[in-house]
Amino acid sequence: MQLWKGRFSKEIDPKTNDFNSSIKFDSRMYKEDIDGSIAHATMLCAQGIISGEDLALIVDGLKAIKAEIESGDLLIDPNAEDIHTFVEGELTSRIGSAGKRLHTARSRNDQVALDIRLFLRHECDDVYNQLTELVDVLCKKAELYAYAVMPGYTHLQRAQPITFGHHLLAYAEMLMRDKERLLDAKKRMNYCPLGSCALAGTTYNTDREMTAKDLGFSGAMQNSLDGVSDRDFCMELASALSILMVHLSRFSEEIVLWCSWEFKFIELDDAFSTGSSIMPQKKNPDITELIRGKSGRVFGDLTTLLTMMKGLPLAYNKDMQEDKEAIFDAFDTVKMCLTAFIPMLDTMTALPENMRKAAAGGFINATDCADYLVGKGLPFRDAYKATGELVALCINKGLTLETLPLEEYKAVCSLFDDGVFEAINLDKCVNDRTSLGGPAPENVLAQVKKMKQRNS
Ligand code: ARG
Repeated sequence: MQLWKGRFSKEIDPKTNDFNSSIKFDSRMYKEDIDGSIAHATMLCAQGIISGEDLALIVDGLKAIKAEIESGDLLIDPNAEDIHTFVEGELTSRIGSAGKRLHTARSRNDQVALDIRLFLRHECDDVYNQLTELVDVLCKKAELYAYAVMPGYTHLQRAQPITFGHHLLAYAEMLMRDKERLLDAKKRMNYCPLGSCALAGTTYNTDREMTAKDLGFSGAMQNSLDGVSDRDFCMELASALSILMVHLSRFSEEIVLWCSWEFKFIELDDAFSTGSSIMPQKKNPDITELIRGKSGRVFGDLTTLLTMMKGLPLAYNKDMQEDKEAIFDAFDTVKMCLTAFIPMLDTMTALPENMRKAAAGGFINATDCADYLVGKGLPFRDAYKATGELVALCINKGLTLETLPLEEYKAVCSLFDDGVFEAINLDKCVNDRTSLGGPAPENVLAQVKKMKQRNS
């Protein structure tokens, strides 16, 4: 059924209809479309624009349609132009002229702008809740591995000692900001465009604040052109999701590395790994690789939205129908990634002995050795140079700072005494890093406690 009969003398060409139609991807907004229509009709009646009898027929009809779609008794027509057309057409076929009154003081332009907002509100909540769950898992693991000393890296070169708990909490912080970004975008999105109509509002005496309140919005959008024209909320959400995917992708990359025999810092549960069809020894971290790969999809969705919008004159343009596939795909992808990632992380075990071995072999305490000399009164730059010479000496002799004899230390700088071995002790190097945000186990445990509160 086409809504725009009257002006036209022919039905639309079937292939053009396929091209023009959005029903394949907007039918998932049927609930939101119906909720919006019920609120709209209720307002029309309250304002005396439609009768109480018509309202009752509309509301009962829409509720029945919703229930039948949910039960599978009513199939959404794949040839319909879009979900708005389908619902209105179905209603009218059931209740006749009352159904035809529903679209008074409304357009599909404000209707679609409303439906997407209602739909995305739930999507935001879903991702927000998944992130809360993920941060919970991170807190649990950070507590468990608060004492697990590992090398911290820059340039993927061993740099300074940290703890695995500290490393995990870094991701928890990033994910907390992702949660805030979603919440913030949702807050800005939560204004109601309904009643903007096609672009220029209406001459009917509508009550836009009433529908806004009914549908749980913070208020009505203040400009009818803006109400139907912008998709900034889609772009903002897609960018928040893109940033989230960057975080998940970096974390995934580290997990891929940590699983390798070169690192062997962690072991993934068999239920969250895959094998090779030819190499019997293989256990692959496919989930994390897929997340790393799928991040590109979400960035692509953001690029689609930005590109789609950047040249559009106000107000509605059909280009904007492309918004849904992009933003839905972004949410679907993120939710799927998190659904796999959370239990994978929850069942992962760390191998602290291997982490410690890696931390002990890479001159990771060289800064602490220099700091020791600073404690003896040497300026930091001189201390840095002396320690550099010691590291070179160790490399030549196949030794570490722990195994280099004291005489060799003294030959480089007379300020050394046996206190140096205590100063470069790995545990001490970590335990003493108690500066705010530092990796000392006591810090990590305190941070976990705070993080649990912030995340609840
Ligand atoms: N399916 C359309 C979309 O998603 C609904 C709005 C149609 N409005 C119009 N003036 N053709 O954008």
